[in-house]
Amino acid sequence: MKSMVLPEVEAYAEAHSHSESEICRRLREETYRTMELPQMVVGPLEGSFLKVMAMTVGAKRVLEIGTFTGYSALCFAESLPESGEVITCDIDPESTTLAKKYWAESPHGSKIQLRLAPALETLAELKGQFDLIFIDADKANYVQYFQRALDLIAPTGVILIDNVLWSGEVLKSPAPDSQTEAIQELNRLVHAEPRVSAVLLTIRDGVFLIKPRISNA
Ligand SMILES: C[S@@+](CC[C@H](N)C(=O)[O-])C[C@H]1O[C@@H](n2cnc3c(N)ncnc32)[C@H](O)[C@@H]1O
Repeated sequence: MKSMVLPEVEAYAEAHSHSESEICRRLREETYRTMELPQMVVGPLEGSFLKVMAMTVGAKRVLEIGTFTGYSALCFAESLPESGEVITCDIDPESTTLAKKYWAESPHGSKIQLRLAPALETLAELKGQFDLIFIDADKANYVQYFQRALDLIAPTGVILIDNVLWSGEVLKSPAPDSQTEAIQELNRLVHAEPRVSAVLLTIRDGVFLIKPRISNA
């Protein structure tokens, strides 16, 4: 992933944002030591953004699509009340084994439920409503994840979608590959969707912040 912000600016932003917990730091460090694509972890700055968003909407129920080693799921769990729950979906038993090791250590880990199956199958079974939905998995299914998220999100909730700038590749026309094409299609669809108001934030690799529309605002 190509950084779109000067490293020193990123470090400054990180240093002035909600701090990463000690367990999240160790989980991130072990992910970087042991996993092939560790940069899939959202990291401290986006992690604090996710936490503050969950707090802002007073989230009690969070749905995450794309667990990997459990970093962002743990960020959410840390920001939920005792009775809160995070349902997180993945298909990879290896990376999620590392996730479970750190969740078991955390006093917040019991709020997290892993669904190990293709996310579209899990989404078809889930009942709403969720206060926050975070989409961060296979790009080919982004449009379908967004469409299902629209059914499951609470009117006061938010949908967040990661990697929507795809290292700047979304600027290219024609799209250089099928993943870029899928993200471009998603971005067009969100922009044209009359049921939501959205802003594409340039945090890290691009995060769509999407709010169901409850008035004509
Ligand atoms: C970018 S990583 C998630 C990172 C995580 N949100 C974090 O920040 O710690 C994407 C994950 O999506 C998972 N994934 C890919 N295709 C999937 C599918 N069809 N259903 C569920 N998960 C899938 C991958 O196994 C991978 O662990």
